[in-house]
Amino acid sequence: MTPLLEIDDLVVDYVSADRTVRALDSAALTVSAGETIGIVGESGSGKSTLGAAIGGLLPGAARVVSGSVRVDGADVTTLRPKQLRALRREQLGFVFQEPIGSLDPTMRVGKQVELALRGWGTRADVLAHLERVKLTDPERVARCYPHQLSGGMAQRVAIAMAMAGRPEILVADEPTAALDSQVRDDVLDVIFALAAESGTTILWLSHDLPAVAKRCSRVVVMYGGGVVESGAASAVLAEPRHPYTKALVRAVPAAVADGERLTSIPGQPPVLTGSAPGCVFAPRCPDVLASCTEQRPPLVSAAGRDVLCHLAEQTVEAGR
Ligand SMILES: Nc1ncnc2c1ncn2[C@@H]1O[C@H](COP(=O)(O)OP(=O)(O)OP(=O)(O)O)[C@@H](O)[C@H]1O
Ligand SMILES: [Mg+2]
Repeated sequence: MTPLLEIDDLVVDYVSADRTVRALDSAALTVSAGETIGIVGESGSGKSTLGAAIGGLLPGAARVVSGSVRVDGADVTTLRPKQLRALRREQLGFVFQEPIGSLDPTMRVGKQVELALRGWGTRADVLAHLERVKLTDPERVARCYPHQLSGGMAQRVAIAMAMAGRPEILVADEPTAALDSQVRDDVLDVIFALAAESGTTILWLSHDLPAVAKRCSRVVVMYGGGVVESGAASAVLAEPRHPYTKALVRAVPAAVADGERLTSIPGQPPVLTGSAPGCVFAPRCPDVLASCTEQRPPLVSAAGRDVLCHLAEQTVEAGR
C-alpha cells in the first residue's frame, strides 16, 4: 500500500550570495494515515524545512538538491504549481507559529473562513467551523478583523481554516509557541480533537517533549537535518537509544513549554554546508567510536524503533 507520506533521502540547501546551508541532509520519514507524530529536535535541526517541504512551501532561497516527498504517491518536489495548489487545498493543512501570518489583515474573519470552505459554506457553516475550534461567540468573531483578536483566538481561527477542508495531513509548526502558557494546552486540545474527528494525520513540530509523549503516537527526533531516531513516543522518550535523543531527554526540565529553546546539551548544533562525512552528532557524542567520524551511520530498525547510529548497530548485533 502507498504510504500517506513518504520522504526519501531529502536534501535541501538554503543558498545565498555568501554561503550555502544544508538544512536537510538525507532526511527520511514514512507516515501512515492516522498517525499523530511529534517532530522534535534543537533549533536549526531542520523541522520547519521538513514541514514546509511537505507542502512545497519552501522559501525562495531553498533548493531541493535531491530526494523526494510523496503525498499519496505524488512527488511534491516535481509537481507543477497548479497541481501543488490543488494538493495543498485538498489534502494538506498548515498551522504556523504566528497565527496572524495565516490570516488576511484586510478581510473579516467570517469571510476568510468562508473562502477556506471554498465557497461551499453557508453562514451557518462558517459559524459551525468557528464553534468547532471552541471560540465562544462565533458571531462576533466572524465580524472581526484579525487584529481585533487575541493571539489565542487568531490561532483558533487559523486552525479552523486549516481544518476546514478536512485535510489528510496537518502540519502544525510550533502552533502554540507565540501564545500565553495558559491557552497553549487548550489550543493543542482543539488541534488534536479536530484531527481525530476528521481522520487527519498530524505532524506536530515541537520543542515540548513531555507534551509530545502525552499526545503523539510516534516521535521523530531530528538532528543536523536528518531523522536520528523514531518510534512510539512514550517508549522513545522514556528509553531513548540514540545518544542525541538521550541528551535531549536529559536536557528537558519537566516543565519546558512549547516555544522555549533547549540549550543545555554541551556543544553547538551543527550548521552544515554540505553532506556530513560521518555521523553529524559525532562531535558532541559522549559515546563516539572511530567509525562515527568516517562513515555515515546505518539505520538500525528493531522492535518498532529506528535508530541512525553506529553504536545501535553494535548493540543490536551483540544482542543477537
Ligand atoms: N530562509 C532561510 N534562509 C537560510 N537559511 C535558513 C532559512 N531557514 C532556515 N535556515 C537554516 O536551515 C537550518 C534548518 O532550519 P529550520 O528552520 O528548518 O530548523 P528548525 O528545526 O525548524 O528550528 P527551530 O526549532 O528554531 O524552528 C538552520 O541552519 C537554519 O539556520
Ligand atoms: Mg522551526
